[in-house]
Amino acid sequence: MTQALLGIDIGTSGCKALLIDGEGTVLVSRTETYGLSQPRPGWTEQDPALWIDGARAAVAAVLAERPDVGIAAVGLSGQMHGLTPLDAGHEVLRPAILWNDQRNGAECDAITERAGGIEGLLARTNNRMLVGFTGGKILWMRDHEPELFRRLRHVVNPKDYLRLVLTGEVATEVSDASGTGLFDTRARRWASGLLDILEIDPAILPPCHESHVVTGRVSRSGAALFGISEGTPVAGGGGDSVIQTIGSGVIAPGELQTTIGTAGIVAAALDEPVANPDGRLQVFCNVAPAKWHCMGVSLNAGGAMEWFRGMLAGFRGGEALSAKDIAGIAADARAGSRGLVFLPYLNGERCPHPEPSARGGFVGLTARHGAADMARSLMEGVTHSLFDIYRLMEAAGVGRGVIKASGGGARSVLWRQMQADLFGCDIVTTEGAAEGGAFGAALVAGVGVGMWPDADEAAKSCRAVTRETPDAAGTAAMREAFAIYAGLYDDLSGAFSTISGSGLDR
Ligand code: XUL
Repeated sequence: MTQALLGIDIGTSGCKALLIDGEGTVLVSRTETYGLSQPRPGWTEQDPALWIDGARAAVAAVLAERPDVGIAAVGLSGQMHGLTPLDAGHEVLRPAILWNDQRNGAECDAITERAGGIEGLLARTNNRMLVGFTGGKILWMRDHEPELFRRLRHVVNPKDYLRLVLTGEVATEVSDASGTGLFDTRARRWASGLLDILEIDPAILPPCHESHVVTGRVSRSGAALFGISEGTPVAGGGGDSVIQTIGSGVIAPGELQTTIGTAGIVAAALDEPVANPDGRLQVFCNVAPAKWHCMGVSLNAGGAMEWFRGMLAGFRGGEALSAKDIAGIAADARAGSRGLVFLPYLNGERCPHPEPSARGGFVGLTARHGAADMARSLMEGVTHSLFDIYRLMEAAGVGRGVIKASGGGARSVLWRQMQADLFGCDIVTTEGAAEGGAFGAALVAGVGVGMWPDADEAAKSCRAVTRETPDAAGTAAMREAFAIYAGLYDDLSGAFSTISGSGLDR
């Protein structure tokens, strides 16, 4: 029987399960989608039962498709920072508060102040307490839901909740722990001094392992729920945005990965934790020992495309265009969209502008602009936001010899070409990269059970499949448009605060 690795990713819009063989070839992949609730402006929540149902359905589908393979190990990936609060009996206390939730600005400010300002936080974790990180949400729950908080015994991330259901073990690993903002990412352990200052009981945080380590085995109940043999090893895995970099083969310094998923991400692998001077980047532990990861995350990339599709469907009586249709329309417009600039801050922003009250917009509209300009400008705005993040990384000394594009947006040739033009370097996609975190999780699980000796060897499975090279005219137009884009945030930030403070956007 062929031995395969099962990767499972608890995403924001769905759960993906896939099987890969020992060459890193994807044998089968399935995604089960689910929804997200937004009970108030800026709040995003999900019932963890959706993740489990989605994972069960996705795993059942891949196992049914390939009954000829045996599962050597399971690797887990998931949306980061999602506060999943559990009581002593491991029951979920309230819906998970997700990575893109914007409610906890006041708590993040309080944490920063108690830690001695941003400098104090950076000294302890090498990260700011960004809105969306788990730490601020723990304090939000303490401040706003004291009854539930009294019953809180465990805080886990989404993929670690799946681990619990699969194996019965409460555990996490260094990459997702980094995203709590309560982790000493240089020393790769919980930041106990910070926990003391914040009066957070360390016992609510799970034991933390390196990502390839087998943290447990599929339990009897896990086997019954998921159809995976009891005793199958389950590796630590990783937070999606970190573990998907190895899924593009990015594990050594030098290369970059961009991701257009719901969020937009620019990420690099590091052999040491670079300084994060004003804390606008996220410098996290990578999914291999003694390796780090640096990234900036914009909150609206593929999410902006989804918004556009949904909004257009509203005009068409519910009939939605696909992202591919929209890219097809955009292809008729010129680079620079005739001066129409899209700002993608539809749900506030994180990097390079850590500002929940930021708002999106199309700026520069004239009566000459048509559907193609709008569609292209939306895609350009997302590309600009990636380049805006990259400029911070460049200042931190992170290189860009080549960029590995990933996420659903990497399927679009036009989006890849925009990146090649704006960044001025080749854009490559690799086999498996479009599968996101699930693919990286399967590779890391393979390291955990000795299928590859280490992450560098596992990353060699990521063979290049497409390459776009910069076009001089495209670069000139995209850079000119970017210069306008980059100035607009400051020009409009006063208007953003007025709008968000006005009560009109409730
Ligand atoms: C990473 C982050 C997002 C989520 C989305 O810091 O917030 O990428 O992990 O999946």
